[in-house]
Amino acid sequence: MCGIFAYINYLVPRDRKFILDCLIKGLQRLEYRGYDSAGIAFDGGNESPDVIKKPETKIVKKKGKVRALEEELACEKDMKLDIEYDIHCGIAHTRWATHGAPCAINSHPQRSDVNNEFVVVHNGIVTNYRDIKKVLESKDYVFESETDTEVIAKLCKYVYDHRENEDMSFRELVEVVIAQLEGAFALCFKSIHYPSQCVGTRRGSPLLIGVKTKGNLSSNFVPILYRDNRGREFQDDVAYNREAKETGSSVEENNKSTDSAFKRSFSTTDFEVSGDIKAAEYFFASDASAIIEHTNRVIYLEDDDVAAVMDGCLSIHRMKKEEGESMSREVQTLKMEIQQIMKGNYQYFMQKEIFEQPESVINTMRGRVNFKDKEVILGGLQDHLSEIHRCRRLLFIACGTSYHSAIATRQLLEELTELPVVVELASDFLDRRTPIFRDDICFFISQSGETADTLNALRYCKKRGALTVGITNTVGSSISRETTCGVHINAGPEIGVASTKAYTSQFISLVMFGLVMNQDRISTRSRRNEIIEALENLPNLIKEVLEMDDDIKKLAEELYEQKSILLMGRGFNYATCLEGALKIKELTYLHSEGILAGELKHGPLALVDKAMPVIMIIMKDSMYTKCQNALHEVTARGCAPILICQKGDTESQSKASRVIELPGTVDCLQGILCVIPLQLLAFHTAVLRGYDVDCPRNLAKSVTVE
Ligand code: G6P
Repeated sequence: MCGIFAYINYLVPRDRKFILDCLIKGLQRLEYRGYDSAGIAFDGGNESPDVIKKPETKIVKKKGKVRALEEELACEKDMKLDIEYDIHCGIAHTRWATHGAPCAINSHPQRSDVNNEFVVVHNGIVTNYRDIKKVLESKDYVFESETDTEVIAKLCKYVYDHRENEDMSFRELVEVVIAQLEGAFALCFKSIHYPSQCVGTRRGSPLLIGVKTKGNLSSNFVPILYRDNRGREFQDDVAYNREAKETGSSVEENNKSTDSAFKRSFSTTDFEVSGDIKAAEYFFASDASAIIEHTNRVIYLEDDDVAAVMDGCLSIHRMKKEEGESMSREVQTLKMEIQQIMKGNYQYFMQKEIFEQPESVINTMRGRVNFKDKEVILGGLQDHLSEIHRCRRLLFIACGTSYHSAIATRQLLEELTELPVVVELASDFLDRRTPIFRDDICFFISQSGETADTLNALRYCKKRGALTVGITNTVGSSISRETTCGVHINAGPEIGVASTKAYTSQFISLVMFGLVMNQDRISTRSRRNEIIEALENLPNLIKEVLEMDDDIKKLAEELYEQKSILLMGRGFNYATCLEGALKIKELTYLHSEGILAGELKHGPLALVDKAMPVIMIIMKDSMYTKCQNALHEVTARGCAPILICQKGDTESQSKASRVIELPGTVDCLQGILCVIPLQLLAFHTAVLRGYDVDCPRNLAKSVTVE
């Protein structure tokens, strides 16, 4: 939901072309987060930076995808591209509109005034923007956009113009501004009053900083600076040292180190580059995929952190010191590879991600399932298993596809854990203010780990004392950090807006959780063994299903001009229908509904006639006979459905107009094989209808607003 990218070079000479290319590339990597308009701000003017008297900020914005912005930039006349900057800060944004229609004026960066004194890019929603706007308008500030963000830029100017202390730093100014804001945000600021400086902060929306220097880092920690009650800054050295020692580094060690690229400077406790070469580059971004091609060293900001880059130094500040909070931010080394976020030989990210599933499911199981000894270990949950075993009930809370993964595995989890299993849509869960007890175990499933409703549900459950477990695909995400423990699904970065490989990996992670819970039960050993054997063979079966791509494409050619598609199934494949229908509507904009076959008679049957395209999933499991009944009900209304069934099921096939025959596996994993033809069908149908599969209209991958 909106992508933020900023690039700061310090004593690394870069010409304007390089800087603009870097900002545009950063936005392209984040485009899946929002793509209705984009904009950038950078140092303006054509004078050499050495002779410049009055700094200028230039803003270029454009409706449409990042490519449109790139074209707009290319059309800019009178803009020298070879001007070289030793020090520079540029900020950029790709938008998913919330307040105000997509257009250049509503795009970010938003500005404080016609001179662009302060510019800001924003992800999230400022809920009290109307009140702030009213106050500023009464002071003759003139607003030009319909956005909530513009109040932030204007408030910067107001605070700057009314500052009592001439030496107020950029970071201090931002702290005053954000103290007035309510809602959720990640923000990056640039100003002509603070040339080449960048300030970034977050509350409820992700923001991280990539750091690139020539040498290695001596310390993996950036200490946090606080203010005392007289407004002076201090660092809790004792706590910081204790924390650093636990992870093998300390303030003293950092300062002693001579061969390091980074160390704490004596005066400020900021981090800076040591030695003769002070050069450093910093990248602020909504997520790591925009940074990884520059550096794999990142710092994830926490809510209310204010990070400032000034004269090549990075400092992180907080207004208040809360009991028990961390005294530092770790510089983490990402394992992500650049290839993982490239399309490779595929035309679309979604297509690549569908075809990655034989490997992504292996990565989910790697080091966790011991196929030889039929054992499953989830390291992230190990220390909490006895508490989980003692719980009153298991709750699985999520949105969209992640919710479907919980529906898909609910039956198996009930069977393996013998506990009450509740599956909740996060938004509805919060609307109802559902009762939660201390002995509940609450799981939060989220590919991005940033979905606002899921995150809010997590905070709600945490407050009520429940043990919280994250099932996420994004290392360092809010949900992975705020849960007590969890399972990383290891599917690799997912960039296509419609989730595919994350679904199958979430599915497997939940199955593995069920197996862990069941490990000591002798009576169900054969069932457990059957599932583990099936897990081992699953990647091969997924490959087999993917080989049917051409057949599915032919089916899409028959269906793409339809207006509606119904999907029916039950038992282990009810979730497959929901997920298949979601894929179809997200990508093709056709109406599509996943229907529980057991509910057919209670309404949906009225939709069925000769002309209605129906896809039925009938597998050789305990629901087979009941599914046959549904098939009769549908065919009796003149409809010959498209059938997804197991190889050799001639009985069902005789009544179908078309058949997709799948290899069989154990009942509880069959949903993984069944969903793949539906992912492919949605993909091909969308392509045939001429839509952008990776960026479906009105949607974004990471929904960080409620
Ligand atoms: C958005 C995406 C979906 C996704 C849902 C939940 O709606 O478009 O693909 O399933 O958010 O996202 P999460 O990151 O929490 O799994």
